[in-house]
Amino acid sequence: MTATVADPLALGTLPPAMPAFVIRPETEGEPEQAMRLEEVPTPEPGPDDVIVRVMAAGVNYNGVWAALGEPVSVFKIHQEPFHIAGSDASGVVWRVGANVRRWQPGDEVVVHCNQSCGQCPECNGLDPMACSEQRIWGYETSWGSFGQFCRVQAQQLLPKPRHLTWEEAASYGLVYFTAYRMLVDRARIRAGQNVLVWGGGGGLGSMAVQICRLYSANAIAVVSSDEKAALTRALGATAAINRSEFDLVKRPSETAEQGRHRVAEMRRFGKRIRELTGGRDVDIVFEHVGSATFPTSVFVCSRFGQVVICGATAGYNLEFDVRYLWMRQKSIIGSHFANAYQCQQANELVIQRKIQPVVGDVFPFADIPRAHQVMRHNQHAGKMVILVGAARRGTGAHGG
Ligand SMILES: NC(=O)c1ccc[n+]([C@@H]2O[C@H](COP(=O)([O-])OP(=O)(O)OC[C@H]3O[C@@H](n4cnc5c(N)ncnc54)[C@H](OP(=O)(O)O)[C@@H]3O)[C@@H](O)[C@H]2O)c1
Repeated sequence: MTATVADPLALGTLPPAMPAFVIRPETEGEPEQAMRLEEVPTPEPGPDDVIVRVMAAGVNYNGVWAALGEPVSVFKIHQEPFHIAGSDASGVVWRVGANVRRWQPGDEVVVHCNQSCGQCPECNGLDPMACSEQRIWGYETSWGSFGQFCRVQAQQLLPKPRHLTWEEAASYGLVYFTAYRMLVDRARIRAGQNVLVWGGGGGLGSMAVQICRLYSANAIAVVSSDEKAALTRALGATAAINRSEFDLVKRPSETAEQGRHRVAEMRRFGKRIRELTGGRDVDIVFEHVGSATFPTSVFVCSRFGQVVICGATAGYNLEFDVRYLWMRQKSIIGSHFANAYQCQQANELVIQRKIQPVVGDVFPFADIPRAHQVMRHNQHAGKMVILVGAARRGTGAHGG
């Protein structure tokens, strides 16, 4: 078996088996060990499903979590014997289920990663993100995009922006739609606000910076290298701060002396922000790092400001001085991916070229485990993408 998935197939033809990178309960661990190439049965669509021929697949941190089996094994979430990760894809509709009317074989699509039952009151009136069966496809479900074909609910499909290549189209969904809900729907970003964006050169952060620019807000990007600082400025950040110039991280057994030093460092960090904003604190903090940054996020946020959070790369047990929260009447807002309507609204901004994908390194299909290892060690900038059905980088765009 080779690692190519580019063999010619007639539209609609599903081979009995397909190549896919698979995690099994017994292989959980570092991504390079956990994700293995296998031949697995090709999925068939249920009545409301679509089978998509994957052309390119985005690499996300949830693939790292799935490989590690931390903080929870995906096999405790779904009942499949193996896990095919991958929560971002661009591709071609290959076969549709009996109830699917909005899509047909041959349509070029981008896949968003939210699944829900579609039948409950929450799905039909409140928000599918409130559905008790809400799942992130390719993380809380199997049959993600790291195989020749993936199986999705029809409501997950969005039109592929015609001007984008396959790898560009596969790069933005999960991080951009998440950042869109965080800033536009949850924090209700407004023109003129100052927004502190942790990890401004990463997947979420590079899209958050662009959303701030689009809404005429000022993004102050936090990064760890000059290269990422330059990237964030090119994307429209008002300023960038290199976090390595500050000693902000709380040690597990912090002494009183270390605690005083850390608070002094948080004050110095806040002063640096005010130097960049003309003396104002940040109205919104865009959080996804968790334990290493959260005390600082609450501290530097303005009075009546908001910390909006969707993840915890550094750890999910958050410890912070709550006095800064209540005395200054700040809010902490949880946010998780996005619903189909928000995805569609956000995708329209890509179609209109108001938001650009930020593609970092592009890998061949065989390098899926290596790409996740790179992400685990924070050695990437922008979004890493895997070519699955696309023969090479730079294909799939249509003129104009
Ligand atoms: N709930 C959701 O729907 C959702 C959706 C997307 C992502 N997430 C979660 O959000 C997190 C980030 O995802 P991503 O795709 O943006 O990952 P990413 O591309 O790896 O970017 C994360 C950025 O965080 C920064 N960072 C890492 N460790 C840090 C630390 N100790 N202190 C300060 N900054 C640190 C890094 O930037 P610098 O080193 O340059 O500072 C890195 O670029 C992950 O945990 C992911 O699972 C959740």
